[in-house]
Amino acid sequence: MKRKITKAVFPVAGMGSRFLPATKASPKEMMPIVDKPLIQYAVEEAVAAGITDLIFITGRNKRAIEDHFDKAYEVESELSARGKRDLLAAVQDIVPKSVSCIYIRQAEPLGLGHAVLCAQPVVNEEPFVVILADDLIAADRPVVGQMTAVFEKEGCSVLGVEEVPREQTRQYGIVRPEPATGNVRRVSAIVEKPSPETAPSNLAVVGRYVLTPRIFHHLQRVRAGAGGEIQLTDAIAALLAEETVLAYPFIGTRYDCGSKLGYLQATIAFGRRHAEIGAAFEDYLKRLKL
Ligand code: UTP
Repeated sequence: MKRKITKAVFPVAGMGSRFLPATKASPKEMMPIVDKPLIQYAVEEAVAAGITDLIFITGRNKRAIEDHFDKAYEVESELSARGKRDLLAAVQDIVPKSVSCIYIRQAEPLGLGHAVLCAQPVVNEEPFVVILADDLIAADRPVVGQMTAVFEKEGCSVLGVEEVPREQTRQYGIVRPEPATGNVRRVSAIVEKPSPETAPSNLAVVGRYVLTPRIFHHLQRVRAGAGGEIQLTDAIAALLAEETVLAYPFIGTRYDCGSKLGYLQATIAFGRRHAEIGAAFEDYLKRLKL
């Protein structure tokens, strides 16, 4: 199996029900944090890690995402005619020319595991990353790059994990790490949405995965699990029985932008350090505290 990962899967076919009505006609991954949609942050993280094939698993309302990564002739000629160079660069440089965007339709939102399985015809027998754009992670070194570096060294699946409060285990896939001295630990069990009493730890898998292609074998066989959905977690649980899977506590601050509170927290954090409005926004926040 090759060690250099070039393919990233972006499942963007979820219902986004926690953000209705905002997500009635457009996917939640198109919601902006300041001036960029969530999916663009995720794509930039992948491209920074050397990914060249972006595979979007889309559902209803997919057009906004396809349009976002396409060339926008009308907007570009208008900005060019008005001499707005900065804005022109912002719309032209969304993905480098060397990167391909591939769209696969998930006809029904049967779950994250099913969405990842839809990528099999394009991923084939290669290791790949899965990025959930609604987990936005601010990091000096982009987290996908941190994780592909672990994969290049270890050659096995790597899950991005973070400690969560015990009372929140029901919102995540939770791993049981084997005791070890280093921070990258082997996973001995993984459970989707356990209760705080039964959770094997408080280490939650958040939206970054490096997976070996063997995961597809298991995704084809798992049945609907928690919430009646085909869960990626259940396929990883089966994968564990035959391959090493590592839990990697990434370095960065994660915002759960699939929830309203996390989304607002991300807006504040990214607004504060925004090149154009950061200083003025910080000033405003200071005044609010008076
Ligand atoms: P979530 O569990 O956040 O579900 O999906 P959701 O439907 O997007 O949002 P809520 O809970 O209804 O508010 C995790 C990720 O998996 C994708 C979603 O787009 C999101 O990135 N997903 C989920 C799919 O692509 N297909 C599915 O069938 C389910």
